[in-house]
Amino acid sequence: MEFTKAWLQYHSIKGVKETEGSEESKTEITIYNEHKCDITKSAVEELQMALASLYGSRIALAQNEAEFQSATAGIRLVLNTSLGLGQEGYHIRSAQGKITISASGEAGLLYGAFALLRKLQLDQVPDLMTFTWEEEKIPANPFRMLNHWDNMDGEIERGYSGKSFFFEKEEILINDRTKAYARMIASVGINALTINNVNVKGAATELISDRYYDKLDKLSGLFAAYGIKLYLSINFAAPIDLGGLTTADPCDSRVCDWWNRKAQEIWERLPLLGGFLVKADSEGRSGPFTYGRTHADGANMLAQAVKPYGGLIIWRCFVYNCQQDWRDLKTDRAKAGYDHFMPIDGKFADNVILQIKNGPMDFQVREPISPLFGGLKKTNMMLEVQIAQEYTGQQMHVCYLIPWFKEILEFNTYCDEEHGTVADIISGKTYGNALAGMVAVTNTGNDSNWTGHDLAAANLYGFGRLAFDMTLASEEIAGEWISQTYGNEGKVQENIKKILLMSWPAYEKYTSPLGIGWMVKPNSHFGPDVDGYEYDRWGTYHKADHKAIGLDRTMKGTGYTGQYNEPLASIYGELTRCPEELLLFFHRVEYDYVLSSGKTLLQHIYDTHFEGAQEAELFVRLWEELQGMIEEETYQRVLQRLNFQREHAKEWCDVINSYFYRKTLIPDAQGRTLY
Ligand code: GCU
Repeated sequence: MEFTKAWLQYHSIKGVKETEGSEESKTEITIYNEHKCDITKSAVEELQMALASLYGSRIALAQNEAEFQSATAGIRLVLNTSLGLGQEGYHIRSAQGKITISASGEAGLLYGAFALLRKLQLDQVPDLMTFTWEEEKIPANPFRMLNHWDNMDGEIERGYSGKSFFFEKEEILINDRTKAYARMIASVGINALTINNVNVKGAATELISDRYYDKLDKLSGLFAAYGIKLYLSINFAAPIDLGGLTTADPCDSRVCDWWNRKAQEIWERLPLLGGFLVKADSEGRSGPFTYGRTHADGANMLAQAVKPYGGLIIWRCFVYNCQQDWRDLKTDRAKAGYDHFMPIDGKFADNVILQIKNGPMDFQVREPISPLFGGLKKTNMMLEVQIAQEYTGQQMHVCYLIPWFKEILEFNTYCDEEHGTVADIISGKTYGNALAGMVAVTNTGNDSNWTGHDLAAANLYGFGRLAFDMTLASEEIAGEWISQTYGNEGKVQENIKKILLMSWPAYEKYTSPLGIGWMVKPNSHFGPDVDGYEYDRWGTYHKADHKAIGLDRTMKGTGYTGQYNEPLASIYGELTRCPEELLLFFHRVEYDYVLSSGKTLLQHIYDTHFEGAQEAELFVRLWEELQGMIEEETYQRVLQRLNFQREHAKEWCDVINSYFYRKTLIPDAQGRTLY
């Protein structure tokens, strides 16, 4: 299947003189790399291809320093372990036509090469001879990871961009697309990856068996050449499902032996493997609770098995009771993660990292920050976000999530006076851990444009860039992505940026109000269904009646607010101090309650829904202004989705507003039609 180059287009730079005549008469750029490892080879290959495309130049490879020095313009890769930039940092200096990329590790050279290419494109540098620049960067997060939820039959759980490009009919795929993908994600600094779904079933359990080792070995090598470590999601019950034991009890010596032997076998065959990702005791998956053990028992048993090989265990904290009775007023799903993991803080082996979703529920358009970030102090942690737009329009709606991720990162948990933000915690700054970082459930598939909606690629690009450098602004990231994908034309920049930056707030406005979430169709999670989850077992209730809506999660209610550090616990606990965008997450509020805007809660709901739907209409107009400036096929593809979004946003607006009108019989103050 054909696929696009996404943001690795390397459009020729405007103003570069078209060289006429023979190949020899073209300008020449010389690259010098004395290091023979795979990663620097990838860097050189990228530079060669990109520079030829950007400048129409001939690319020469210098054999030694002298040859490089005598060239007119050139780029040199220098590995210098005494630079103190870690394995992944880089330093770039450009003067008088010569550019030196130095790093203390090979991956740093690759990131330097991509940073240079980005800079040349963003600044539209017409000539290397006059290009003076210096930059030094060390990635903010040690781990910058993507999780694929790909199944071995080729389907993708919560995938909105076609089928898997890793699996088909229980076989592993390795082809041109695999390398194109490795380049793409390396270009934004991704350094770790799982390829199979966290729900490990059927053939996926056998990924850690002879059936797949050869292919996985090849795949891990391909990614390693781009500085990316391959991890596998594993089935906690593998000793039973694969090993034929009768138990997977982490405290049973037969189980430990089985995993020890398995780990030895795995690393003999897959020496480049990073480790395992585990979803245990969650939504039907097996785990230590089945045997009356704690999650520390489960994770540590695996951790000691993989330790001799430098392996890591990434353990998800998405653990809650998904068999709740909606009539049970005591249980609060939001509390589950903290309740399960706080008592075992400090009990995990040092090669275990807990992977925590940004919010306590499940990737809603707005949620408070998981209290685990401010709570855990003696455990390695990573932040998990979802760029697969499960609850944010499923890549049929444009929803640029980077502004949301910025808010998450900048949130102060008050766990530490100086370094209390989520960014501080997950980058390892607060507690000095080296095993820390950011993970995204990713949004790619085998659609020709990778992400279904062309504009959804901004989330993949943005996640990587932000994980590498958390100080980047969402707007800056959007601008970078637009330039490299669609070029630097002013109107193109302006309109796409507008659409992207308005899109998350707009989506929030026309879907579920004030942090309540979950008003979606069950299972598919697409489209409005206000009571879709109301009488179900998933612990996601809004409890709307004719007078009020929301769940009291204060100390008078479920007590969830007590999981936060002060002053957050008090702020969230008080109706008048609680941030309004989260009001209904924390409180049960009457419809005539007056918000800071002077509007009643109900009128706010009506207004935001109408407003959001109007904004979706505006996206279509902004895009239509770009006809002729964007390649026609892409233009039409995006237009089609934006038209769909406009209709769907109207549907959301009308369904939600009519629902509240019918509950309350209070009309809209502006007299707009409610049904
Ligand atoms: C969500 C999603 C599931 C997924 C789960 C997870 O609940 O709907 O499909 O398996 O998250 O994160 O494990």
